[in-house]
Amino acid sequence: MSSIDYSQKIPNNVNLGDDRRLQRALENWQPAYLDWWNQLGPVDSSEMEIYLRTAVAVDADGWAQFGMVKMPEYRWGIFLADAEPDRKINFGMHKGEAAWQDVPGEYRSDLRRLIVTQGDTEPASVEQQRALGRTCPSLYDLRSLFQVNVEEGRHLWAMVYLLHAHFGRDGREEAEELLARHSGDVDKPRILEAFNVPTEDWLSFFMFTYFQDRDGKYQLSALAESGFDPLSRTCRFMLTEEAHHMFVGESGVGRIIQRSTELSAKHDTLDIEAHGGIPLPTIQKYINFHFSICLDLFGQERSTNAANFYTTGLKGRFGETKIDDDHMLDGASYKLPDIEGGKVVWSDQPALTAINEVLRDEYREDSLRGLSRWNKAIKAAGVDFELTLPHTAFNRNIGTFRDVNASPTGEILTQEEWDRNVDAWLPNDADRAHVKSLMVPVTQPGQMANWIAAPARGIHGQDVEFEYVKFH
Ligand SMILES: [Fe+2]
Ligand SMILES: [Fe+2]
Repeated sequence: MSSIDYSQKIPNNVNLGDDRRLQRALENWQPAYLDWWNQLGPVDSSEMEIYLRTAVAVDADGWAQFGMVKMPEYRWGIFLADAEPDRKINFGMHKGEAAWQDVPGEYRSDLRRLIVTQGDTEPASVEQQRALGRTCPSLYDLRSLFQVNVEEGRHLWAMVYLLHAHFGRDGREEAEELLARHSGDVDKPRILEAFNVPTEDWLSFFMFTYFQDRDGKYQLSALAESGFDPLSRTCRFMLTEEAHHMFVGESGVGRIIQRSTELSAKHDTLDIEAHGGIPLPTIQKYINFHFSICLDLFGQERSTNAANFYTTGLKGRFGETKIDDDHMLDGASYKLPDIEGGKVVWSDQPALTAINEVLRDEYREDSLRGLSRWNKAIKAAGVDFELTLPHTAFNRNIGTFRDVNASPTGEILTQEEWDRNVDAWLPNDADRAHVKSLMVPVTQPGQMANWIAAPARGIHGQDVEFEYVKFH
């Protein structure tokens, strides 16, 4: 069941050959996808050979095979995690009923919207990152970028499969729209704001894979709980790929911090710009930026939409089945923030409408884990600096804090106070210019840019010096 058939035009483990109509529809979409990849995927990359992993099975151990591949020849396909026999719906009003194998008519438009919103982020990130290859800090990192990019392309395939297989004509149209919207496009932008700004430097790329991809993990985990079984199985396999993206993020930011810390210790100052490093306070500002825009991705604190998705069994909580409660949230409460008398105050509110906040809080907890590892490394090197995550009120554009200014520690500020301090809290023009000035390509095998430490080990047992990308 879990083995993937690579003899077909579209590799898959869903017996696509048994459904001629669906197979034809997807084979029609395939050239449009490749056109999109060639036009808006990684720049100047079509002739490069890259040490990529490709899925060969969907079970937990050994699902991947590694080899030198040109990206346009990557075998994007449709891979679902194995079906759980007799899977049930595990929360909401349908709790205990058999999971749906087909879309229930009454939830059709809600499900479609959830799938399209998730699907839209996948090609968006490829578009955002498309120019980064020109300034890679090493071949190792260039390979990581491309691995993430091809897998985000595959995540688009995953969502497009669901649309084609289960949503008829509407689904086909949505699949086309997923290639028609583009990141930052004036007329047809991507759906979510955080996916409309280009990722222009590698510090931003590693922050993106640490913070934005982690948002992906939480959204996919909530969708993996869905009563709509094909969505659940699709997301469960996507999560195995997402884990690698977050590894790229955590190890990438970690290696920058390691290098910055070395330079700070050596020169006895945090101000290491003149020594070709990225100062720890600048890294803090990038964390403030990425974390706060990612908090917006979880939506409003109070959301009747989210409550409906939960009650109807479409989207659960993170680790739903491991939570010890009634999985209905009957009469349950959850702390939500409000602004009262110029202060952030928290009060108990119905948990059902607080579903977004529940997921956002889990995301914060998870984001903190990497920070505490980074802080340990900074401390061990004898440098006096501690990275933090900003308060939930800081730099928000959605929900309770949309119209207020707040400091990274959560004090509500006047406009004048915000303006006076913002350069110390978010990357300013000078910070961005400095980071950009460091972005020069390093393409000798084993060499690293000066602002980032070498990885502890290479990919899949290869040396760090391995030629992960061949340019010819
Ligand atoms: Fe993804
Ligand atoms: Fe990802």
